[in-house]
Amino acid sequence: MSTKLFSPFTIKDVTLKNRIVMAPMCMYSSHNEDGHIQNWHRTHYTSRAVGQVGLIIVEATAVTKQGRISARDLGIWSDDHIEGFAELVSLMKEHGAKTGIQLAHAGRKADLEGEIIAPSALAFNEKMKTPKEMTKEDIKETIEAFKKGAERAAKAGFDVIEIHAAHGYLINEFLSPLSNKRSDEYGGSSENRYRLLREVIEGIKSVWDGVLFVRVSAHEYHEEGLTPLDYVFFSQWMKEQGVDLIDTSSGGVVPAQINVYPGYQVPYSETIRNGAEIPTGAVGLITTGIQAEEILQNERADLVFLARELLRDPYWPRTAAKELGVIIEGPKQYERGWN
Ligand SMILES: Cc1cc2nc3c(=O)[nH]c(=O)nc-3n(C[C@H](O)[C@H](O)[C@H](O)COP(=O)(O)O)c2cc1C
Repeated sequence: MSTKLFSPFTIKDVTLKNRIVMAPMCMYSSHNEDGHIQNWHRTHYTSRAVGQVGLIIVEATAVTKQGRISARDLGIWSDDHIEGFAELVSLMKEHGAKTGIQLAHAGRKADLEGEIIAPSALAFNEKMKTPKEMTKEDIKETIEAFKKGAERAAKAGFDVIEIHAAHGYLINEFLSPLSNKRSDEYGGSSENRYRLLREVIEGIKSVWDGVLFVRVSAHEYHEEGLTPLDYVFFSQWMKEQGVDLIDTSSGGVVPAQINVYPGYQVPYSETIRNGAEIPTGAVGLITTGIQAEEILQNERADLVFLARELLRDPYWPRTAAKELGVIIEGPKQYERGWN
C-alpha cells in the first residue's frame, strides 16, 4: 500500500519528506530568561528529526520580551538570538527534517512582571493581570517586531514561518469579538478585527518570501464567539495575502468547557479547507497512523500536526509506518535495528 502520510508534500520550494508535522510546543526551558536556545532545545528538537518527522515547528517564540508567555520562553526579539536558532536549524536539517518557527506574542496571556498589553483592557480571568489597551504606537511596534522576527528567522535558515494567531494570544485577541472591544479601526467589524493580522502578514511578507503558515483557533466554544465559518472568511483573506496553509486549532480565547476526543478539531480543518480552498493542517489528539492516514486520504487536511504523541514517542513516524505496513528510511546509524 502506498500511504499518503509518507508521501512528500511540496509548498513553494520546500518539500517535506512526509506529511508529519511536529506541532509547536513551549518547553519553557530558556533558563536564563533571555530567550536563548539551550541544550534542552538542541536535544529535544534534534531527536524528532532523527525520528523522521517531516517538518518540525519550533515552539512559540516571542517577538518582544513583553510578548512572552513566561520568562522562560524562547525569544527572537534581538539579533543575538539568530546564532542559537541557526545552530538548531542545522542540527535538525542534518537529519532531513524541514524546519519551522512559530512567531508569537502572548498579549493578555503573558505571565510576566511589569505591564502587559492587549487590544482591550480586559483580563483573561480573575487570576491574570489586566492588560493595558494598546495604543496605535504599540500596534505599530508590534507589527514591526513580527517583521523583525521574520527577518531573523530567515537569517537562521528556517524553511517555514508560522504566525501564532491562536489560543487567545495577542493576534487572536484582536480577531475575537470576545476580547476585542476597540472602537477604532482595529475593532468592531470582522475586517477591523482582522486588521492587525493583515498588517502582521504584510510586514512579514515584505521580508520573507518563504512558506507562511498561520495557526488559528477556529472555534471559541462561546455563544458570541467565532466559529469555523468565521474562519472560512478570515482564511480567504489570508489566502489572498499569500498565506500557504492554515494550521487549525481551537479554544483559549476565553475560559470554556471543551469536549475533547480523538480528532475533535479535524472537522474545523475540513470546513476551512473546503470553504476557503486553502491547504490546512489538522491537529489535536491525533495519535495513530491509521487516524492520520484517514484524515489525509479523505482530504480533511493536507498535513497532520502532532504534539503530545511526539513527546511520548519521538520516533512516531516509524511507529506509524509499522502500523500502516510500510517501510521508511531511518538514520543510517540505526540500520540494524530500524525495520
Ligand atoms: C507542552 C505543550 C506546549 C504547547 N505549546 C504550544 C505552542 O507553543 N504553540 C502552540 O500553538 N500550541 C502549543 N501547544 C498546543 C499543541 O501544539 C497542540 O495543538 C495540542 O497539544 C493538541 O495536539 P495533541 O493532541 O497532538 O497534543 C502546546 C501543547 C503542549 C502539550
